Amino acid sequence: MAEPTLRAEQPGDGDAIAAVTAAAFGKQLEARMVGAIRASDRFVPELSLVAELDGRIIGHVILSYVDLVGEPVTTRVLELGPMSVAPEHQRRGIGSALIREALHRAEARGDPVVLVLGHPWYYPRFGFRPASQLGIAAPDPELPDEVFMALPLQSYDPGLRGRVVLPPAFAAT
Ligand SMILES: CC(C)(COP(=O)(O)OP(=O)(O)OC[C@H]1O[C@@H](n2cnc3c(N)ncnc32)[C@H](O)[C@@H]1OP(=O)(O)O)[C@@H](O)C(=O)NCCC(=O)NCCS
Repeated sequence: MAEPTLRAEQPGDGDAIAAVTAAAFGKQLEARMVGAIRASDRFVPELSLVAELDGRIIGHVILSYVDLVGEPVTTRVLELGPMSVAPEHQRRGIGSALIREALHRAEARGDPVVLVLGHPWYYPRFGFRPASQLGIAAPDPELPDEVFMALPLQSYDPGLRGRVVLPPAFAAT
């Protein structure tokens, strides 16, 4: 089978990204969340990546900035998600390729860490571990420890600690 091309999203990709997101999650919430992130000041166009096959978008991952509220400073750090692969294209490595490319770009920008709220059976293979191990508390203290994860990058600084506060875009309904 042909390999999908990975590239940053372009103006005009929004509807196709929303469609693949809704198909992957089986509901609209996460698609609206992606739209709200894109419309916010936390969006980084080069960190919203699509996988394209025969001119069709079949996967998407987004990294955007959330707040890490520490003492005494609040820092903006990257969080991954939502991410999606079209159901008929799942389990072929497309999600993994998107994540690796997104992490490579975050590393190249000099970002110190990437967070994710997600499946504990998926993200550890990329090096994510419970964020609590780095002194980074989840936005919701009720979340099980293993679902809120962090991946330190090359410029990681252990002083980067605190509680994550999600910007309004993540509260899309
Ligand atoms: C999670 C998701 C992005 C992964 O994308 P993908 O392209 O299928 O992932 P990859 O092919 O890189 O990796 C697949 C591996 O993930 C694991 N996996 C996938 N689905 C799984 C499931 N339902 N239960 C347990 N493990 C699963 C397996 O280890 C699988 O490898 P295998 O097929 O060799 O067993 C995709 O399944 C998806 O869009 N899911 C719905 C939306 C979602 O949950 N998004 C992530 C929110 S955190």
